[in-house]
Amino acid sequence: MRSAPLTLLLSAFLCALGCSDGDGGGEAGGAGPTSGPGGSTTSGSGGTSATTGGTTSGPGGTTSTTAGPTSGSGGAGGDMAGSGGMGGGGSGGSGGADARIPAASASSLKEAGSKANPPILIGAAISGSGLNDANYKRVAAAEHDYVTAENEMKWDALEPQPGSFNYGAADNIVNWATSNGMKVKGHTLVWHNQLPGWANSLSGSTAVEQAIRRHIENVMGHFKSKIKHWDVVNEAVITDSDTGVGNPRMRPSVFFNAMGANFIDFAFQTARAQDPEAKLYYNDYSIDALNDKADYVYEMIKGMVDRGVPIDGVGFQMHIGPPNNEAGGADVAANLKRFSDLGLEVLISEMDINRCGGVVTAEEQLTYYHDIVAACFSLPKCVAITFWGINDGRSWLNSWQGALCNNGQSSQSLLFNDQYQKKETYNKVLDALLGR
Ligand code: G3I
Repeated sequence: MRSAPLTLLLSAFLCALGCSDGDGGGEAGGAGPTSGPGGSTTSGSGGTSATTGGTTSGPGGTTSTTAGPTSGSGGAGGDMAGSGGMGGGGSGGSGGADARIPAASASSLKEAGSKANPPILIGAAISGSGLNDANYKRVAAAEHDYVTAENEMKWDALEPQPGSFNYGAADNIVNWATSNGMKVKGHTLVWHNQLPGWANSLSGSTAVEQAIRRHIENVMGHFKSKIKHWDVVNEAVITDSDTGVGNPRMRPSVFFNAMGANFIDFAFQTARAQDPEAKLYYNDYSIDALNDKADYVYEMIKGMVDRGVPIDGVGFQMHIGPPNNEAGGADVAANLKRFSDLGLEVLISEMDINRCGGVVTAEEQLTYYHDIVAACFSLPKCVAITFWGINDGRSWLNSWQGALCNNGQSSQSLLFNDQYQKKETYNKVLDALLGR
């Protein structure tokens, strides 16, 4: 897939700002969920669970249902970030000042991000093993001010046995990050993958609900003073293909199977009750372009916002190339814009661009890196860009079936080579962060 030339991209983006959402909305409407979360059957039970769990915010009174606690709903919807004042942009202002002003110059990615107005966080996925390498640590801290643990905060790492928590590896990363002045995003509270066997074999809504509540309360409680951003639910939607095309639907999982789509509302309500100050995000892959999955997720998130579910933003993983989608800058700009128009923050949360298999050429990779970062940068409510790793040799793609990196081939997907030198991809990203 080829990306649009920059002029086209810019005009499409300006149109997305000014022409409002004619096309996005139309597409989204056409592909609405057949059984989205908060559907009338499941949301009733959500009301009960949230109440049982002692959360103050009800399930937003779920539009659709009868059972939501009457008082909780209004309050939850109201004080929940929902729309107004989060993110960087003072939403309601009449349309004029919706642009981020770049720094005049910068000698690192994080400097370009922090000097922009409003600032934007520049993140990286950090692995525990990477922190044993002095060069890795040096580059990670010099260029980034935002950290996501690549694997160490997933359910199997943190709660390997029911109710028994193991924070050692995660604490190492979080303490390293905070001692270097970096913010951390907790990744990830409720995800079908990297679950311990015991959690994966739970059944029945009560058992699953209790497990979700215990996990969220303990994990967010442990990190409460250090982590104020959380991926609460990860990858709850699938399509026939990993590229986001064909038959979008809720993903079968231990959570969905027991609670229906309401597990999502429940997780966000539980997280909000645990830390009312934390930013709470939904995160997914192959929702970067205007495709079937992105449309479905848009309707899902819109439903949550309408119901007053406490969600603050959406992470677009931005794994470009096999096994996931491709997305040019204009598509990304229009897609991010429609989500931010819901009053939410948007984030590029796991960016890399895979060159294996020749699906994305070297030239396309550079264009994508520049134009996609520019699309986020242009939108004040796009609050962070995280790259999924530091150097090519450590990328998850190199050993991922479906990424087409056979025989140990490097995915060449990131901004630094294995000697930790800046690649041309780095220069394109820095250019975009400086408005060039
Ligand atoms: O820790 C074991 C090790 O003990 C064992 O010897 C080795 C043998 O294969 O496996 C190690 O575990 C691997 C783990 O990464 C740590 O390296 C797993 O096999 C491997 O599957 C796991 O992959 C991670 C993947 O999530 C799992 O889904 C990747 O590192 C990680 O980058 C990737 O990250 C995800 C995000 O969390 C969510 N979005 C997609 C993204 C990319 O898949």
